[in-house]
Amino acid sequence: MPKSMIVASVLGADYSHLADELVALEAAGVDAVQWDIMDGSFVSPITFGADVVAGCRSATNLPFEAHLMIRDPEDSVKAYIDAGCELIIVHAEATTHLHRTLSLIRDLGGRPAVALNPSTPFEAIRHVMELVDMVVVMTVNPGYGGQSFIESQLEKVREIRRFVDARELDCLIEVDGGIKASNIAEAKEAGTDAFISGSGILAHPDGYPAAVAELRAAVGE
Ligand code: DX5
Repeated sequence: MPKSMIVASVLGADYSHLADELVALEAAGVDAVQWDIMDGSFVSPITFGADVVAGCRSATNLPFEAHLMIRDPEDSVKAYIDAGCELIIVHAEATTHLHRTLSLIRDLGGRPAVALNPSTPFEAIRHVMELVDMVVVMTVNPGYGGQSFIESQLEKVREIRRFVDARELDCLIEVDGGIKASNIAEAKEAGTDAFISGSGILAHPDGYPAAVAELRAAVGE
């Protein structure tokens, strides 16, 4: 059974010391870093431009994921690939031509992934599942860290798990939002491979290493 991936979202990091935060997260034992990219339109906040991500690339060897919570992500995928993000996550709700956008990511040398907001059914991506390396099931409404886990989304995880396993697709399932030691086991049980945690790690009272160890212990690893 492959090891679960613990992925740190840096949305809640200390932006005045981003490189140091990445070094600390790598030392704490996370498997990857997720950059929550927000455009002020698809979601209200505005966060990291590609140049910020590129500026941090040399601080760590951890893989970077770009979670593009932006409209028309096809216009930005190359910039984030060039900035050093290997996995590019676009929202099914944010692009008119999802099949073309996912194919573009692959053509540019990135690993395509697609995210679903809580209200979006799996059916919205059934016909692009062959194109993606990962499906991200949002377990909060996108735009903010520190929100509560929406447990009902685990039914969507189970549905995607059944689909992926039945067709033996090489596709990971990731959950994003509200992941803590108290709920990560049920998300794992539902069929999740990778877990995004922002406040569960960066706001943990005992520090990053303890937070990561607690999450790994909760999934039995
Ligand atoms: C929402 C973000 C958050 C973030 C994780 O748009 O995608 O889900 O990365 O934050 P927490 O773990 O605090 O919910």
